[in-house]
Amino acid sequence: MAAIGARTRGLLKRSALAAGGIAPEPFVAAARKFSGWLEIGRWLRSECVGRPRRMAAREQLFDLIGAEVAQARTLYLEFGVYRGESMRYWSRLLKNPAARLHGFDSFEGLPERWSADHARGHFSTGGAIPEIGDPRAEFFKGWFERTLPDYAAPAHDALVVNLDADLYASTRFVLERIAPLIRVGAWLYFDEFSDPSHEFRAFREFVAATGMKFAAVAESRNLWNVVFRRVA
Ligand SMILES: C[S@@+](CC[C@H](N)C(=O)[O-])C[C@H]1O[C@@H](n2cnc3c(N)ncnc32)[C@H](O)[C@@H]1O
Repeated sequence: MAAIGARTRGLLKRSALAAGGIAPEPFVAAARKFSGWLEIGRWLRSECVGRPRRMAAREQLFDLIGAEVAQARTLYLEFGVYRGESMRYWSRLLKNPAARLHGFDSFEGLPERWSADHARGHFSTGGAIPEIGDPRAEFFKGWFERTLPDYAAPAHDALVVNLDADLYASTRFVLERIAPLIRVGAWLYFDEFSDPSHEFRAFREFVAATGMKFAAVAESRNLWNVVFRRVA
């Protein structure tokens, strides 16, 4: 597409400045979000293979991956466990007795503020680890920065990673640390992808830094939840 000319850019700029002078703050906040979504859409189209299937809710995305890995010796890694809702779902999905579910969380909540509604400490369980009732499940309690360096992944034939830490720094750290595990065929699920400043940003930087190629497999209708699969 042709670049926007200086005249048009100037016109757009003056219009935006004039509108900004009279617009209420919620309108400006919405415009900021809108430009973030433009960025995500452009990145998905230019950097990822294929068009994601659109589905109603995250459980359908889980089921879609589950249909491929349920019978395999799957390693399911979850970063951000909270009360264990998604761990329980995956415990039911994975049928192979040799599958493993490893959940990482401080159980003290978010290490920093994520949004106006999610202050530092949000999602704290007061240190309590959820009861999953599955002997294949194991929890690694503490900040990722403390637990991941000593983590040794067990042997597996399929990998599913659920990235649900909400924050940029947490997600970026995890992706960097587990990069050697993300081989062709691995599945990555993001729970809050449509916030341009956090999980999306971490993944975009990770893809740029590693050169890994991913297919965008499926997304929920509001784009919060997105599934990728490494293809090259
Ligand atoms: C949205 S909750 C997870 C929800 C869960 N996956 C579910 O769907 O039921 C996010 C979790 O990420 C954890 N978290 C974020 N950054 C972390 C970090 N650097 N180390 C450890 N835990 C972290 C928080 O403690 C919080 O419990």
